[in-house]
Amino acid sequence: MQFREIMCGIVGYTGERRACPVIIKGLQRLEYRGYDSAGVAVCQENGALNVYKCKGKVSDLERHLEGKDSSGTIGIGHTRWATHGEPNDVNAHPHLSRSGNLALIHNGIIENFRVLRDALRSHGFTFRSSTDSEVLVNLIEFVRESENCSLEDAVRIALKQVVGAYAIALIEKGNTTRIVAARKSSPMAIGIGDGEYFLSSDAASIIDYTQSFVYLKDGEVAVIEKGKPLHITNLEGREAPVSIQKLNLSISQLEKGGFDHFMLKEIHEQPDTLGDCIRGRVIPETREIVLSGVLENKERFLKARRIIFVACGTSWHAALIGEHLIENMCRIPVEVEYASEFRYRDPIIYPDDVIIAVSQSGETADTLAAVEIARSAGAFVYGICNVVGSSIARGTDSGTYIHVGPEIGVASTKAFTGQVTVMTMLALLVGRLKGTVDSGYYHRVAQAVLELPSTIRKALETAGQVAALARTFTYAHNFIYLGRGYNYPTALEGALKLKEISYIHAEGLPAAEMKHGPIALIDAEMPTVAIATLDATYEKTLSNIEEIKARGGKIIAVVSDGDELVRRSADYCIEVPSTVECLMPLVSIIPLQLLAYYIATYKGRNVDQPRNLAKSVTVE
Ligand code: F6R
Repeated sequence: MQFREIMCGIVGYTGERRACPVIIKGLQRLEYRGYDSAGVAVCQENGALNVYKCKGKVSDLERHLEGKDSSGTIGIGHTRWATHGEPNDVNAHPHLSRSGNLALIHNGIIENFRVLRDALRSHGFTFRSSTDSEVLVNLIEFVRESENCSLEDAVRIALKQVVGAYAIALIEKGNTTRIVAARKSSPMAIGIGDGEYFLSSDAASIIDYTQSFVYLKDGEVAVIEKGKPLHITNLEGREAPVSIQKLNLSISQLEKGGFDHFMLKEIHEQPDTLGDCIRGRVIPETREIVLSGVLENKERFLKARRIIFVACGTSWHAALIGEHLIENMCRIPVEVEYASEFRYRDPIIYPDDVIIAVSQSGETADTLAAVEIARSAGAFVYGICNVVGSSIARGTDSGTYIHVGPEIGVASTKAFTGQVTVMTMLALLVGRLKGTVDSGYYHRVAQAVLELPSTIRKALETAGQVAALARTFTYAHNFIYLGRGYNYPTALEGALKLKEISYIHAEGLPAAEMKHGPIALIDAEMPTVAIATLDATYEKTLSNIEEIKARGGKIIAVVSDGDELVRRSADYCIEVPSTVECLMPLVSIIPLQLLAYYIATYKGRNVDQPRNLAKSVTVE
């Protein structure tokens, strides 16, 4: 059976320090992503290559290391998250080659590993684990022995035979200075220190040591040797430029800042993160919008026949709001596609289409594949990402970062509001350039964007009420979320938040769809969360609420401040501040994020690392 790995963590070090503590600290910073086993390989001063690995947490690995010889100054470490098959000590990384001379860590999937394994078996190789990664380390060893070449040449030759995705790092017995690393469709950053190097699948995990990074590109192989310049080549052996980028990230941005969970911190941080997202992009004095990615590619947007959003999960929900925003302000037809469906159905893409890929992590495999398809069809591809330097950010023609800082909680919160804010600015700007948005409306929305931090701060004042309400509903087994217009995607997103962190089944629906079937589910055991803020469909949503009430359903309504009408029908009302209708999803989602959070904590769930989920899904 193939063991697929989603977003495992990679950390490496070569320099003067002891490698193990550096690696363990880096792996701890990657823990939030979810994983089931961990391991390290260290090359000792005497050249011995020691591998320690076990099922469980990084703390189990630390215990496992006690009393063992792990004093070397070069090493690689890994956290593994298997989606099929049992996680165990043997399947954990690093994997040693047959001779024990090479140790390898790997993120991704080698899709043709069975063919490669059979070929290696015919040369007498045997395998201890069920992983594709062990096949890869042996393939590299086989090439090295048969071609009598350097390790980096063996890596290059072996990788040419590989179909799939990988970020790999290798160290070797007897070499106390050099790591060889390579990547394809899986992230890898090299941290540059003073005569020392760090390696990680996520630069944020090593910012304790450096803020200077080189991001390996697809098909690149790096030789990372203590005290020597970084050497990067492509799979053909041609030199590649080494471009160092600065990451301005503070440790406090990565820590919980006094909150019990990263998710709660990230919910409460939204006034600030939206401030960061807007800063410099909406000029307060003139309300002019400056999105350089759009302005530099003005013609592509002005001539767009169509805009297609590609995204997954929460980012897909944000895109549904983007569809309303763009159609309304720019009068350009918009389609919103699940990236995973788009990539496999031979989509019709015109060269004058604009594809907008939305992704917090910038590493989601399906979204990245959709980007590649769109680019090869000649369309202009724009990215809306959070993680700077991520694969989607680099793989698109242009784009806008949402700049909301690292999102650690697996359930996306501040990225959603950042994405919708960027889409609002984009729609306003393109609408202005096209002349499809009326000046009064433009100024009202731009002003409301500027006021978002304070509006969201007010919406967060519902936290106490929502926490109390959550107690009442902690034992519900199912929930329905309803919304209309701009708030239909908010209902989908509220339901997703509850599902993923509380494991309660929840369904988001357009309110008017209830009578076409789902209303049959309503009884006293089925709570409904209805978004009924003052907007174009307010009265219609009110009728939908009354229909549910008449069937004995319990209603929690999110309403505009001072609402009187819904209060008469709903069992509980959460009042949120008002803003322009197109920004209401940003306000209404706040109590829904909080409701999911509190219900999940009352149920004792692991809010930041819910079961079966990983933060970035870098394989399909
Ligand atoms: C839900 C969640 C996921 C992600 C999805 C896409 O809370 O986090 O649904 O939104 O996996 O991830 P990105 O945005 O990184 O492409």
